[in-house]
Amino acid sequence: MKTHQYEVLIVGAGGAGLMAALYASRSASTAVLSKLYPTRSHTGTAQGGVGAALGNLEEDRPEWHTFDSVKGSDYLGDQDAIEFMCEAAPQVIYELEHMGLPFSRNPDGTIAQRPFGGHTNNVTGKPVTRACYAADRTGHMILQTLYQQCIKNKVTFFDEFHVVDLITVNGSVAGVVALELATGEMHVFHAKAVIFATGGHGRVWDVTSNAYAYTGDGVAITLRRGVPAEDMEFFQFHPTGIYRLGILITEGVRGEGGVLINDKGERFMERYAPKVKDLASRDVISRAMYLEMQEGRGVGGKRYLYLDVRPETVNKYAALDNRTRPDGSPFRVTGEEILAKLPDIIDFCHVYLGVDPVTQPMPVQQTAHYAMGGIPTNVHAEVYLDEKGAIMPGLYAAGEVACVSVHGANRLGTNSLLDIVVFGKEAGLRAAEFSGGASFQPLPGDAADFAREQFARLRDGSGTEKAADIAREMKTVMDDHVGVFRVKDGMQQALDKIRLLKERYKEVRAGDQGSAFNTDMLNIWELSNLLDLAEVTTVSALAREESRGGHARDDFPQRDDKKWLKHTMAWMREGDVKLRYKPVTITKYQPKERVY
Ligand code: FUM
Repeated sequence: MKTHQYEVLIVGAGGAGLMAALYASRSASTAVLSKLYPTRSHTGTAQGGVGAALGNLEEDRPEWHTFDSVKGSDYLGDQDAIEFMCEAAPQVIYELEHMGLPFSRNPDGTIAQRPFGGHTNNVTGKPVTRACYAADRTGHMILQTLYQQCIKNKVTFFDEFHVVDLITVNGSVAGVVALELATGEMHVFHAKAVIFATGGHGRVWDVTSNAYAYTGDGVAITLRRGVPAEDMEFFQFHPTGIYRLGILITEGVRGEGGVLINDKGERFMERYAPKVKDLASRDVISRAMYLEMQEGRGVGGKRYLYLDVRPETVNKYAALDNRTRPDGSPFRVTGEEILAKLPDIIDFCHVYLGVDPVTQPMPVQQTAHYAMGGIPTNVHAEVYLDEKGAIMPGLYAAGEVACVSVHGANRLGTNSLLDIVVFGKEAGLRAAEFSGGASFQPLPGDAADFAREQFARLRDGSGTEKAADIAREMKTVMDDHVGVFRVKDGMQQALDKIRLLKERYKEVRAGDQGSAFNTDMLNIWELSNLLDLAEVTTVSALAREESRGGHARDDFPQRDDKKWLKHTMAWMREGDVKLRYKPVTITKYQPKERVY
């Protein structure tokens, strides 16, 4: 078995991992381990923009961004962390610009910005242009820019190395165990600090915007090592995924004037959010869509609605709304402008639907999109071990895998790209600083044993069960019962089913018993992560008897601040999930009813 040694190890090469690598590598020996080639990371699929109150087109302020994010979070976000992120936003965007990120531009050369759901001028309550964008490829551009910077700065990459375990010694971090895809060999990476930046776990659900690689590895690995997971019941369903496939159609479409239309041709969001309509926050829109379809107004009675960005539709509703551009001119668009601002979604619709969005409406449905919960951290990306604030020395997490918590019960669009760059940077700086003053923990002789046992079971199982069947049944039950709306009986059914599936999983045997490029084995191992996270999500959701943000219960339709203004902390212990709670940090904004 090969052993490697670096001061700082980063697991995952999306935006958070690369930003961390860039900053850690300035003062510490640093390596990035990624199960994918870095530029295939899921950050590359983020489309519409990254939020920052630059005020390039109209007045905007970081404190408005902070308040919108607190309100968007349904008051569950920690306000000190949200303020930290929103205040850091303009500076970090200019850093990216100076690294060469090709943002779209305003005529005066400044970074272009567009409106996004829930981002408002706090005085007028009207949508504000805050999302800095590179057409509808913002995540792709962030990923490419950061990767190029990392290469320029000689960061060491271990591509297609799949991290499968965390090594700890006396409660501190000592490294990770990784499986090399090309050879099937286990490697031990000895480190002073480890940063998890492995992204989310949307593959728990069937209809999802998430990449195949989004299997919750970071949260599952750390749960197995005694670290809790925070607020796992809060998972965001993005309103506009391509019907049946779930592929994201950016909220930027609505930022550019697109509207949601039901089978009767009604712009139904006027009824659910009279002020901001199609630019309400995602939880509000996803629930409205669900209700429209439930009441038979899905297109042709099916489970989809139309997203319409045809210039004649945009211009009709913009005129009815008296919508103006930030300079006061009437808001009107042409087909050419739509093509220039949304080239990728136009391509996706051609390829996957045979639909041309400039002349036809797009069939869309809600799609499992984003994990608000994850590994609990403070604003310095240090990982909490309990509800009282104990941390694990040397362990860090950033990006979607982490719960800082800046998104609370519902994330505003554009705040995920912001989260990865702000907290990725912070994680890199802090991990490097920590490693400067720490020594390597002695590596235990059995460091790779737990990982080996897990894979031995997959090689030697009875083979009476198929991983694909288990995955399909898990996704279906999660879509049916732990989706946009939830009730006790449904969630209990889901939990019983997941526990049964976990038993059946023990009888799975990998079809491919070889060593080189054994993706079969790794996919089966990833399924164990998804099953664990499905269980933790459902247990946390069953316990929370209220509706808040992305967690909407038909049997408890009201938000209940008296009982539930608190974060869930979940541990996996002795085959069971244990829950405890910790308070939300409130600084300036007392919880209020959300009105859009
Ligand atoms: O709609 C979008 O472009 C997605 C952005 C996000 O999730 O922040």
